[in-house]
Amino acid sequence: MQSLNKVREFMRRDRVFDFLVPEPLPVVDVSHDVLLYVESLSVSFDGFKALNNLNLYIGDGELRCLIGANGAGKTTLMDVITGKTRPDTGMVYLGQRHNLLDKTEAEIATLGVGRKFQKPTVFQQHTVFENLELSLRMSKAILASIFYRMNSEQYDRIAEVLKIIGLTEHSHQLAGALSHGQKQWLEIGMLLVSDPRLLLVDEPVAGMTPQETEHTAELLTSLAGERTVVVVEHDMAFVRSIAKKVTVLHQGSVLAEGSMDDIQNNPDVIDVYLGESQ
Ligand SMILES: Nc1ncnc2c1ncn2[C@@H]1O[C@H](COP(=O)(O)OP(=O)(O)O)[C@@H](O)[C@H]1O
Ligand SMILES: [Mg+2]
Repeated sequence: MQSLNKVREFMRRDRVFDFLVPEPLPVVDVSHDVLLYVESLSVSFDGFKALNNLNLYIGDGELRCLIGANGAGKTTLMDVITGKTRPDTGMVYLGQRHNLLDKTEAEIATLGVGRKFQKPTVFQQHTVFENLELSLRMSKAILASIFYRMNSEQYDRIAEVLKIIGLTEHSHQLAGALSHGQKQWLEIGMLLVSDPRLLLVDEPVAGMTPQETEHTAELLTSLAGERTVVVVEHDMAFVRSIAKKVTVLHQGSVLAEGSMDDIQNNPDVIDVYLGESQ
């Protein structure tokens, strides 16, 4: 009888086991208004320095654009921040407290660092809504996801994200049937469901129509403030349309930093980067 009671206790639907309750997001200390610290960062591949003593500070809530010719080290920098590539030397901190270099990719994601790769990787055979639901599930502990049932709070979160990315009306459409631009927004949405602190976005407007590009500019601008957004992009008109502060990378180091006007009038930048397209 006692064991039956135990089983009953275990089967109670209203009982939430401690180990199933998702961990609260760890506190990121931004008391100095800086969310991301990158100092003296170097990465070499077979002796070639992809990053060379790079220093970069991203303010909390900032929208920062990262530009630079092909091979400047932009993607490598994102790889280091997200734990995919280990640097030779240097330091990367999220806020004052979290040393990202001693964390795994999964731990860094749990700290609230979300990354959008160049190519959209949505689940084509699932609807827009299901894609968001799946990524919400995956952002929870794996154990929890086995027992996972969506509650109204999570449903609201998905509805909210659908609105932000402008896909509310497409919520039941298969992701495979979306336009290229819509797929990119969906993928940004898949990061947003878990409420990231820092969003790294690599070449978001490549292949987009002018209207899609404009919508993406609005979307990324609206995301900054509440969260921090770092955008890598080649399209200079796009960068001009969203940028507050731009960092130019060149041969793995910061060549210049400032407003778009500062950058475009900087003789070093004109020399090595903007000069290229003339
Ligand atoms: N895994 C790797 N192995 C060898 N070389 C690499 C690797 N990743 C990047 N590189 C090299 O490092 C340099 C910087 O690359 P990357 O960060 O992709 O530049 P960007 O994104 O600015 O175009 C390039 O010369 C590239 O060929
Ligand atoms: Mg790249």
